[in-house]
Amino acid sequence: MVNTAKFIEQAIKEIGDIAAGRGVVMALSGGVDSSVAAALAAKAIGPKLVPIYVDTGLMRKGETERICHLFGDMNLKVVDASVEFLSVLKGITDPEAKRKAIGEQFVRVFEREARQTGAKMLLQGTIYPDRIESEGGIKSHHNVGGMPLHMEFEGVIEPLRDLYKDEVRDVAGALGLPAEIQHRMPFPGPGLAVRILGEVTQEKVDVAREANWIIEDELVEQFRPWQCFAAVVGLGTGVKGDNRVHGWIVAVRAVNSRDGMTADPIHLPYEVLAKIESRITGQIRSVSRVVYDITPKPPATIEYE
Ligand code: XMP
Repeated sequence: MVNTAKFIEQAIKEIGDIAAGRGVVMALSGGVDSSVAAALAAKAIGPKLVPIYVDTGLMRKGETERICHLFGDMNLKVVDASVEFLSVLKGITDPEAKRKAIGEQFVRVFEREARQTGAKMLLQGTIYPDRIESEGGIKSHHNVGGMPLHMEFEGVIEPLRDLYKDEVRDVAGALGLPAEIQHRMPFPGPGLAVRILGEVTQEKVDVAREANWIIEDELVEQFRPWQCFAAVVGLGTGVKGDNRVHGWIVAVRAVNSRDGMTADPIHLPYEVLAKIESRITGQIRSVSRVVYDITPKPPATIEYE
């Protein structure tokens, strides 16, 4: 466990030294990692920091409004890149190729913004497990192995690169960030794309977004899981009204974990599962089947891709 006060002092110094008067753009998603990185960078370089929230079109319901509310006074720039993200994902079904396409598109958006502001550096909230899983060949986290080889930036600053999630939460507390940010469930940078098997289409994104909203509404407050979410895992036969239909299969996942490296499924009461099923199939017409995933990590990962 790191010494939080010492870490904060060193991180602020490091960001100041590496940035050395050069402008810095950063990816601020509103999760705990990027929020902590932003708070440290704001202390280190003040107005030389340009935080950017990229609406990839793969975010959860209400995220853009939430982030504007939380970071509106931080000079936050919101970029709507939803059309371009969907377009680069068109036709891609391989999970690694998807992550790489997303990682590259993030960088292209940041390069574009940096050109406008004259920023030379890119700052990210990458944490230790992101690096371990990418470097270990498990999967390319969008902000590590998913990044393109050639970038216009002079350098990348990753002040949280050696921390685990619980350590990042401690730093968030010490920095006085709101509890809502400090304790927020992790949400992957590639967003709903890793909760959709196969090609990402607008229709599947809409189903995933609505189903994730229902899951969070039912589970977050009551069970305080490490993570809970819904994934669109395929198409299956169902019956709606008098007709046989082809409908989406939605998998529900709720896990506890200490650091994301391993995870255990939560034993949800059957009544809670039944309510989730009835809300999802009732409110999302194109879903014909809901399943609950009871696989630990390993052998499964937490996300679907
Ligand atoms: P997995 O699916 O690898 O997830 O068991 C472990 C933790 O990491 C999150 N995750 C990501 N976070 N970019 C991120 O910022 C990514 O590409 C990514 N992939 C997975 C996941 O939500 C879980 O908390």
